[in-house]
Amino acid sequence: MQKIIQALEEKRSQARLGGGQKRIDTQHGKGKLTARERLDVLLDPGSFEEYDMFVTHRATDFGMDETIIPGDGVVTGWGTINGRLTYVFSQDFTVFGGSLSETHAKKICKVMDLAVQNGAPIIGLNDSGGARIQEGVAALGGYADVFLRNVMASGAIPQISVIMGPCAGGAVYSPAMTDFIYMVKDTSYMFVTGPDVVKTVTNEIVTQEELGGASTHTKISSVADAAFENDIETLLEVRRLFDFLPLSANEKAPVVRTNDVIDRREDSLDTIIPDSANKPYDMREVVLKIADEGDFLEIQKDHAGNILTGFIRLNGSTVGVVANQPLVLAGCLDINSSKKAARFIRFCDCFNIPILTLVDVPGFLPGVAQEYGGIIKHGAKLLFAYAEATVPKVTVITRKAYGGAYDVMASKHIRADVNYAWPSAEIAVMGARGATEILYRAELGDKDKIAKRTKEYEDRFANPFVAAERGFIDDVIMPHGTRRRVARAFETLRHKRQSMPVKKHDNIPL
Ligand code: HXC
Repeated sequence: MQKIIQALEEKRSQARLGGGQKRIDTQHGKGKLTARERLDVLLDPGSFEEYDMFVTHRATDFGMDETIIPGDGVVTGWGTINGRLTYVFSQDFTVFGGSLSETHAKKICKVMDLAVQNGAPIIGLNDSGGARIQEGVAALGGYADVFLRNVMASGAIPQISVIMGPCAGGAVYSPAMTDFIYMVKDTSYMFVTGPDVVKTVTNEIVTQEELGGASTHTKISSVADAAFENDIETLLEVRRLFDFLPLSANEKAPVVRTNDVIDRREDSLDTIIPDSANKPYDMREVVLKIADEGDFLEIQKDHAGNILTGFIRLNGSTVGVVANQPLVLAGCLDINSSKKAARFIRFCDCFNIPILTLVDVPGFLPGVAQEYGGIIKHGAKLLFAYAEATVPKVTVITRKAYGGAYDVMASKHIRADVNYAWPSAEIAVMGARGATEILYRAELGDKDKIAKRTKEYEDRFANPFVAAERGFIDDVIMPHGTRRRVARAFETLRHKRQSMPVKKHDNIPL
């Protein structure tokens, strides 16, 4: 028996070495951890249980039958993050460049199926040269098997992708269908085709970093949600994100103990709105002051800065925040911000996360580029996402809520549950100056008259009371009491039930 046990240990040790010490050293030389080292950082110590350690590929072409490595380039199994179950896979770049073979795909599919069946998230650590070239269509089929599971799991369990090396071709489409993508700066890339192919086809000369690095995908394309300095920081941030999320659509997010009392006054919010309506202020500060312990996990922080999206906790419970940011483009809604917020809202709605909306929006951004880019359709995504969301929705208008953007930003009319306004709120079709210039065009030559008309319009509409008279605003609240009022509102909505007409699924404008 001793001998058998020893043989097992030897087999395990061999599997743990992956592509061998030389390749492990190369991986370390690039500042990257190995697949197993990454899981050690991601999961609670000692919690990882590995499956399919002895699986090998079945390819014979191109001398593959002479290169058999147990595990076949991906480490799979389950573990816990702060005691909560998650399924994981971690691609091993030291084995055929982490490329995906038929059996490599089967291992990933197995843990994905278990994750869906057992109601736990799946976290994929991606570091792969794409389809295993020696296997041809078998590898392509393997990718498609993973893609199908991404779609089936979508909205059932949270799916998180971490890009920790090159990801090309098929290796990008699975992450693209998951809920969140985190990248590592300087060592991770995502592209459909690499720089060489780009040069051949379009004659453009770009580096890997320019084409698909973390900066490109967090700032320009918005394919990725966040990027961090190195493997360790990235994986610790994944743990932080995980703690905000429920295990599945059948559960609520965990409640985390907090010492931050819910009736904490924030007197500084009483003076945060500048005297001039044209002056900006930092909405992030408002979010931080409302949140438990000032903790705000931002999603897509570096993209479409005119809207903030992310998670906070109120009284220990996760809340998704969507907030116009007056510091960028005056907080206007444009194509990018509409898409960013719409996707975030849909995630929250899938996973029972209530939504807090903070509104200071002068309207949709005008312009030829916006119209040509389809702002009508992209803006409609945000409207659609808010209207279809059945999770608790609480809205606070801090200053401007003008025009269509008033309707869109979780107004009462599209099923927000509790709508508050600060006394500084201005709820109108447009700003006073613009309105006067349209209504009194004939008087435009007379400055005094126009000033008088503008003042009249301001007095009538630049306040929250016209909306409050109609019940579109439930109460005008003191800014310093926002945290308490919002938290209490969410308490009343804890058992909210709202149904939709029976249908197969909706047809959100894509
Ligand atoms: C088999 C692969 C491989 C692949 C890399 N390797 N990619 N083996 N299939 N797809 C192997 C290399 O032969 C090498 O083996 C080891 O992995 C490390 O690769 P290097 O090239 O030495 O590493 P590096 O210089 O860091 O470059 C990494 C890389 C590059 C950028 C990923 O290897 C590369 O461009 N690979 C091919 C990418 C690609 O075109 N994939 C197919 C995409 S098409 P040794 O033995 O020397 O260590 C696709 C279709 C799916 O995925 C479509 C579905 C929609």
